[in-house]
Amino acid sequence: MTAPPSAPCVGSGSPAFHRRAGELWCEGVPVRELARRHGTPLYVYSAAVLRERYLALRSAFGAGAHICYAVKANPNLTLLARLHALGAGFDLVSGGELMRLQAAGLPTRGAVFAGVGKEPWEIAAAVAAGILFFNVESPHELPLLAEAAAAAGRSVRVALRLNPGVDAGGHRYIRTAGGDTKFGIGLAAAGGVVEAIAGTPGLELCGYHVHLGSQVQSAEPYRLALDRVLEFVDGAAVRGDGVTHYDLGGGFAIGYGRGPALDVAAVAAGVLPALAARGWRAVLEPGRYLVGDAGILLTAVLGEKQQDHTTFLLVDAAMNDLLRPALYQAEHPIVPVVEGATGERLVDVVGPVCETGDFLGRQRPLPPCRRGDLLAVLAAGAYGASMASNYNSRRRPAEVLVDGDTAQLVRRREASRQLFADEVDLDEV
Ligand SMILES: Cc1ncc(COP(=O)(O)O)c(C=O)c1O
Repeated sequence: MTAPPSAPCVGSGSPAFHRRAGELWCEGVPVRELARRHGTPLYVYSAAVLRERYLALRSAFGAGAHICYAVKANPNLTLLARLHALGAGFDLVSGGELMRLQAAGLPTRGAVFAGVGKEPWEIAAAVAAGILFFNVESPHELPLLAEAAAAAGRSVRVALRLNPGVDAGGHRYIRTAGGDTKFGIGLAAAGGVVEAIAGTPGLELCGYHVHLGSQVQSAEPYRLALDRVLEFVDGAAVRGDGVTHYDLGGGFAIGYGRGPALDVAAVAAGVLPALAARGWRAVLEPGRYLVGDAGILLTAVLGEKQQDHTTFLLVDAAMNDLLRPALYQAEHPIVPVVEGATGERLVDVVGPVCETGDFLGRQRPLPPCRRGDLLAVLAAGAYGASMASNYNSRRRPAEVLVDGDTAQLVRRREASRQLFADEVDLDEV
């Protein structure tokens, strides 16, 4: 039987999510079928979007760039393996993320390790595993890194994370490059840290790192940050000695239903000529750009409630499954899985968690829904499952990866017993 013709799913950010006869499909699979098989809430990812986005970055930045996927955006082992197969290295921020690579049998030699408070065991584990370099964010790390280098009997490569004071916009919780954030080292203090690195046996300065924040909407802040870094480097010979890499971080914005993703070719055009002039290799740390539009969250309607002037549509996904609306006032498009009902009205889409902040979307135009009807929260592949929690003793959702006509369960829904499996036995209290 031939499938009905395909139409775009507005707001999804990719043709991989599309409609056939009004029904939402992910690649060659109707998502209603996945919800029937695996239940809801359910994350559904598209392998085609991962490929499309990875290749867009590769074509913009060229074969010489090193693309390190920011594992924090979505650490699912299968997605990590898929991105490795495409050629990605990894941007890590914890020992747990390093262990994920190891659990997936993936090489660590292409990984970079950032984080403002790395613990000694995490540094030791990364030195033992062998990574590309550490992104140093604070002078207190230097003796810890030097100790790990001495214990391992080899030197450790470090890139200094600079905070060039470039305002890249976005919600204040996801800005990382201003003077009032804990990240990186301001340019005024960084010269002393470079000298300290140069004077510490076992440490090799191999580059500089800047991460401006997330959802950066234009290429300009990347160019401006590099200009400031280059000016800093030119301030003293020691600052350029041995430098081979410039890590421009991640932060490439996606549209969330309000436009296209950031033009990464413009970012590349803004930084590559200056890097080529110095013979430095570009390192990128995209998270959201690679996986954000690759995922949706399916949720089923539980009921509806009218309260004063607000209609609340109660659904079975909540802030524990997708925290971004509550944490950052993020707005994800929310659409019916099966289109067709008429009579749209504005509703607040809320979950069962006992918090007023537990909402997936406010004042959204949706048609009348019945119990069991499915909604899709779009562009939910980044910082969705990775921020899921057990709040209200709810089980974290299942995750499915679609590739063409094939769907694979890549994370089972948590079992209820897992909610308390690690708590002490009541007899022992
Ligand atoms: C150091 C660093 N690199 C990369 C990223 C990935 O950001 P994004 O998902 O916006 O690309 C983050 C996000 O917090 C980060 O802190």
